[in-house]
Amino acid sequence: FALAFFIASALATQRRYDGYQVYQVKAKDRVSFDVLVKLYNERSDVYDFWTEPRYVDFTTDVMVPPAFTKTFVDVLEAFNMEYHIKIDDVQQEIELSRLDIAPPLAPKKALQRSPGTPRYSLDWTSYSDLPAIYEFVNEIAATYPNLVTVTSTGQSYLGNDMPILKISTGGSGKNAIFAEGGIHAREWISPAFVTWLIRELVENYAAHPQYVDNIDWYIMPVLNPDGYTYTFSPTGDRLWRKNRAPNSGVCVGTDLNRNFDYYWNTGGSTSIECGETYHGGAAFSQVEARNVRDAMLSVANQTKVYFSFHSYGQYWLTPWGYTSALPDDYQDLYDLAQSAVDKLTAVEGTPYTIGTSTNLLGLASGCSDDWAKGGAGIKYSYTVEMRDTGRFGFQLPADQILANNLEVWEGVKVVAEAVMLM
Ligand code: ARG
Ligand code: ZN
Repeated sequence: FALAFFIASALATQRRYDGYQVYQVKAKDRVSFDVLVKLYNERSDVYDFWTEPRYVDFTTDVMVPPAFTKTFVDVLEAFNMEYHIKIDDVQQEIELSRLDIAPPLAPKKALQRSPGTPRYSLDWTSYSDLPAIYEFVNEIAATYPNLVTVTSTGQSYLGNDMPILKISTGGSGKNAIFAEGGIHAREWISPAFVTWLIRELVENYAAHPQYVDNIDWYIMPVLNPDGYTYTFSPTGDRLWRKNRAPNSGVCVGTDLNRNFDYYWNTGGSTSIECGETYHGGAAFSQVEARNVRDAMLSVANQTKVYFSFHSYGQYWLTPWGYTSALPDDYQDLYDLAQSAVDKLTAVEGTPYTIGTSTNLLGLASGCSDDWAKGGAGIKYSYTVEMRDTGRFGFQLPADQILANNLEVWEGVKVVAEAVMLM
């Protein structure tokens, strides 16, 4: 038995992507665009659209398994689409980016925390796993009890805690900003930004006290802790997106960002359990989505802004995602986004595109941002798709974490300034 166990664990390996290729595809007319959308909607168990098909003449990134590259290229050529291979072997990229992960936490020594200094391993020069993020959250809360309160919103399917930090100087009735990250497991820059945002607000409080004196912040760094863990696991999958709750068949996981109850399952999601955008058996069927929902509802009356941080594409998105129609107050959302992006881009020229999710990325219903606005009544609901535009995609090199964070923070500050005056 011991030998069998030894062999099994030696063979256990992370999902491999040998021979998987990422194609950048451009449909040049309506007919071929519709073909792409059909693949996206109906074959999402095979083709992993890293970016959604947008519209005619725009490019889409699709990861294709080796067994399907021939079929895929045949379709592209039959419909006269423009394409090139952007990543020739996804496995190679995964191996290169492994250097970007922080080493696992050392076993906690019985050291006393020296007063006033949190001890955590996050330094935003590498990506940190879930235990390191929990350690960070707990240390920050223990070190700054006057600014930070941590509570649990509940557990994930696999029993991982889903903490929420309230960053506040007290008082009541203040305007609030609700920010979250990590709803999609493979988008590692998202928790890396959100944890940094916590650090900036708390540890750098003295540099800009107005943002915390006048605003209550509710921050959840990892909405999909099971999926996130799976992307780090030696037996997991670096490119996992969904949560890790089982379905009726063999395929695991629901796309939490298709599981929210605002025009749920009305387009841009799939009922294929194996699909990357599987919307779940019912709206809010997933405990992680319910935990966020309840956390948001409990502070919705004071919350002016909802931020969902994702990657990649460099978009500052507004609702709606379920329809191409604009919200009545679209101009307000757009104007604030424009001021934010102006400051963001001024840092080092990183361009961002502003618009509604549907109009920029195509229909996607059941998303958290639509629910935040339509369901919870939070006027300014934004999904921010951070770096890059696809050179590295989900595997943004760790040496870009700080640059990403600094520029997005400039945008967030603009929004915070506006919230103070609302
Ligand atoms: N790429 C994100 C996703 O697929 C975008 C979500 C944007 N929001 C929306 N309502 N469609 O989840
Ligand atoms: Zn995402």
